[in-house]
Amino acid sequence: MEEKDEIRIIHVKETDSTNEEVFRLKDKVKIPFFVRADVQVKGRGRYGRVWVSQEGGLWMTGLFEKKGEYDGIKFMFGSALVVYKILLHMGINARIKFPNDVYYKDKKLCGILVEERENLIAVGIGLNVNQKEPPIPSSTTLHLITGKTYDLEFLAYNIGKGLMEIERKSIGEVVREYRENLSTIGKTVKIFTPSGAIEGTFEDLDMDLNVILRGDVIYVIPAFEVLHLEEYER
Ligand code: BTN
Repeated sequence: MEEKDEIRIIHVKETDSTNEEVFRLKDKVKIPFFVRADVQVKGRGRYGRVWVSQEGGLWMTGLFEKKGEYDGIKFMFGSALVVYKILLHMGINARIKFPNDVYYKDKKLCGILVEERENLIAVGIGLNVNQKEPPIPSSTTLHLITGKTYDLEFLAYNIGKGLMEIERKSIGEVVREYRENLSTIGKTVKIFTPSGAIEGTFEDLDMDLNVILRGDVIYVIPAFEVLHLEEYER
């Protein structure tokens, strides 16, 4: 196996948040590496929300060096793509909801929290897998969809491998493939930005990382200004 394909995954039983754990380990483990936890007692979601992280789910974070200006957004889109493609390969027809949620029909299966500190990027992935109850009412789990039980180690390895491949790709390659698989295109949405909320049809994500929204006029919204997006049609 070539050095570039080596995947270091540290498995812990319990931690506060794997996104915190990777930063604590940054000087002890060769970057890139991953931490997976059976349970997170302070799992974090986007916008400061709590991420319910009981046993049965896949809670993991990869720590990468920031090498290019757009690496944060590359991992943001790329990680959703990785999870989506792995699920598709397993026969689960999930969908990517902008910017980086993975849904099954109208229920959330996976959330992603990308955080940058200094020159490092933490890519935190929370995938609901073997839980027998939805962690929150608007969510679901792979077990609830298929009735099967999944090997978390195998899933973690494949996600890790996928993220290492994203690291090697250009932002252009990632955005092109992400956009081709983005289920939000064509949907009626409400987009929340620092300067207010806008409603319209999500027409596209262009190669300059702008969301093209058709409302009363055509809006061009930089993707990184989208704080939150609600979909009205499924
Ligand atoms: C969201 O949709 O709000 C993002 C959820 C991200 C959850 C994952 S679980 C692994 C990593 N550790 C955390 O505390 N959060 C992320």
